[in-house]
Amino acid sequence: MTAKILDGNALSAKLRESLRQRAAELTAQGCQPGLAVILVGENPASQVYVRNKIKACEAVGVHSEKYEFPADTPPEKVLQKIAALNADPKIHGILVQLPLPPQFDEDEVLEAVSAEKDVDGFHAENVGLLAQGNPRFISCTPYGVMEMLSAEGISLRGKEAVVVGRSNIVGKPMTLLLIGASATVTVCHSQTRDLAFHTRRADVLIAAVGKPKMITGEMVKPGAVVIDVGINRLPDGKLCGDVDFDSAKEVASLITPVPGGVGPMTITMLLANTIESADRAAGK
Ligand code: GUN
Repeated sequence: MTAKILDGNALSAKLRESLRQRAAELTAQGCQPGLAVILVGENPASQVYVRNKIKACEAVGVHSEKYEFPADTPPEKVLQKIAALNADPKIHGILVQLPLPPQFDEDEVLEAVSAEKDVDGFHAENVGLLAQGNPRFISCTPYGVMEMLSAEGISLRGKEAVVVGRSNIVGKPMTLLLIGASATVTVCHSQTRDLAFHTRRADVLIAAVGKPKMITGEMVKPGAVVIDVGINRLPDGKLCGDVDFDSAKEVASLITPVPGGVGPMTITMLLANTIESADRAAGK
């Protein structure tokens, strides 16, 4: 079997067209959606992500503001900026690009963002709401994965879903969403004893570990849906996922490529959360 390849760029383009229309409607009502992005330090991957987020805002008509701070910035300066953005009515979403330099307490920074503007869904209140099955903002990457599955008409009810990775950004919220969709969920991580035993049972396998090509074709159940959240740079400069695409695509029924799979969906869902937040502000 050779898997169907899930094209995240094509789905994103379709979703962004309807987001562009919603943004235009809100702008016409005098409430143009606005996103503020905070970047601290010179992490090259973060710089690329932030640039792409700002470009995506421009393309759909979302106002964006970028605030860059040098790596040695005292945390109070960033917290002050967040407080100002919390109070700014032009801004409906605030995103602090992670990771932050070592002098920062990441949790403290994430909690400083107003939960009503936390379009990343990282604030403890929003994590709690998601865990209760009543989300306000869903973290963009797992939200994008759910949209991809839904666009393919894949029902999760009763399915065996295996999430590899337990990060706050992807693994944990992904797990909560899959439970919410009535899958039977197993979470694997660095201390899991026999990873392949678990992955081979997965009808839906989500790889989010940050290890290049770690999930090989022999670890995939024939006919499984394989979602690769990893974005890793190889020594030759090429990007690859956590899944060994060439071997896995011969076993899976559906698979996401890297690049061009989940990545563009993450940014699309950030736009969706920002526009949703503006919608809520306009309705107030
Ligand atoms: N760093 C890696 N992924 C993300 C993300 O989704 N949001 C933020 N803010 N930082 C990240």
